[in-house]
Amino acid sequence: MSKRALITGITGQDGSYLAEHLLDLGYEVYGLVRGQANPRKGRLSQLMKDLSFVGGDMMDQGSLVAALDAVQPDEVYNLAAISFVPLSWSQAELVSEINGTGVLRILEAIRIVSGLSTSRTATGGQIRFYQASSSEMFGEVAESPQHEATPFHPRSPYGVAKSFGHFITRNYRESYGLYAVSGMLFNHESPRRGLEFVTRKITCGAVNIKLGQQEKLLLGNMAAQRDWGYAGDYVQAMHMMLQQPEPRDYVIGTGRTHTVEDVARIAFEAVGLDWRDYVVIDPGLVRPAEVDTLCANPAKAQAELGWRPTVSFEELIQMMVDSDLSHTTKEQQYGHLQLAAAW
Ligand code: NAP
Ligand code: GDD
Repeated sequence: MSKRALITGITGQDGSYLAEHLLDLGYEVYGLVRGQANPRKGRLSQLMKDLSFVGGDMMDQGSLVAALDAVQPDEVYNLAAISFVPLSWSQAELVSEINGTGVLRILEAIRIVSGLSTSRTATGGQIRFYQASSSEMFGEVAESPQHEATPFHPRSPYGVAKSFGHFITRNYRESYGLYAVSGMLFNHESPRRGLEFVTRKITCGAVNIKLGQQEKLLLGNMAAQRDWGYAGDYVQAMHMMLQQPEPRDYVIGTGRTHTVEDVARIAFEAVGLDWRDYVVIDPGLVRPAEVDTLCANPAKAQAELGWRPTVSFEELIQMMVDSDLSHTTKEQQYGHLQLAAAW
């Protein structure tokens, strides 16, 4: 019999790649979708005909219990979050509720539906749980590269909320014997990345400038360093983490770090331009407390999961530029003004 997975955040970048991967593996895939007439649900269901959906919101405990009860999944992947870090300063309480307390709510839903208690003989039930933890938890890094035991020093309300999600996941594993793990994932991008994140903002901006649809590109801290990988590789690691004999947390990243300036240089070069002629620094885009540098040590994931990234940084930026070019060209043909998300 095929396994059944429930994905929260299915309409996001990672949710779409994970859904495709699990469908390829023969899973029945259900996505938790919030709101009324969610526009991204329609687009997703057209692309993946075999998907099923269930209503629910990370802010609403009852809806999560009902969703778990209706789907009866073998595996739950909790990807739902407000994932854009700057929003966490302007809407700190909302981000804490969704990204932090929301994790507690879905763990509680699993506990209730599985009938788990805190008894020392608790079996942990049948449902396996994946939490989308983040390298933002390392924040002001205590050491480099960062591994599973590196202490946290989050720099944003987003990072603080993710740290709560991380520890409450571990706590449910220790308290109820739940098979619950956190993937401590470093930045991962793709042609499906939201336009607000720096890589896609740059690839899209370079393409728009090349096609004469934009004059300048406003950016913040060009010196920030991230360990950027390809989202399609990272969702495979999520699945691998739930197939292990013991539930463990893993750092997932490439172990290579680049600057925002590197992204700009490669993206503009890919369309035959020099970034220095078009990028304008906007001090308003600099964050109140920045994460200057992140670099993963993925040795544990490599040794225990056999996971390895397959797409280099340079290939990733080129892939995103190529995709933005093809979509923008199509959009021009059909007379649309805005570059839509490329999926
Ligand atoms: P994304 O594209 O921004 O997707 C976020 C998803 O969360 C969307 O499907 C969104 O649904 C959903 N969501 C937001 N608030 C919700 C709520 N109240 N109830 C239910 N669903 C809600 O993010 P992503 O890049 O795919 O990232 C997936 C997860 O990994 C996130 O938790 C993110 O914080 C974490 N993460 C990402 C990275 C990365 O580099 N991409 C790295 C580390 C960790 P709507 O369509 O309804 O808005
Ligand atoms: N978004 C954005 N826009 N970032 C900029 C800009 C700009 O105009 N200019 C410079 N940056 C810098 C930011 O200051 C940050 O240091 C870096 O580019 C990356 O920013 P984002 O692409 O917005 O990603 P992030 O690192 O803040 O967060 C992403 O990765 C986390 C994992 O480390 C998100 O996907 C988070 O959800 C995820 O947890």
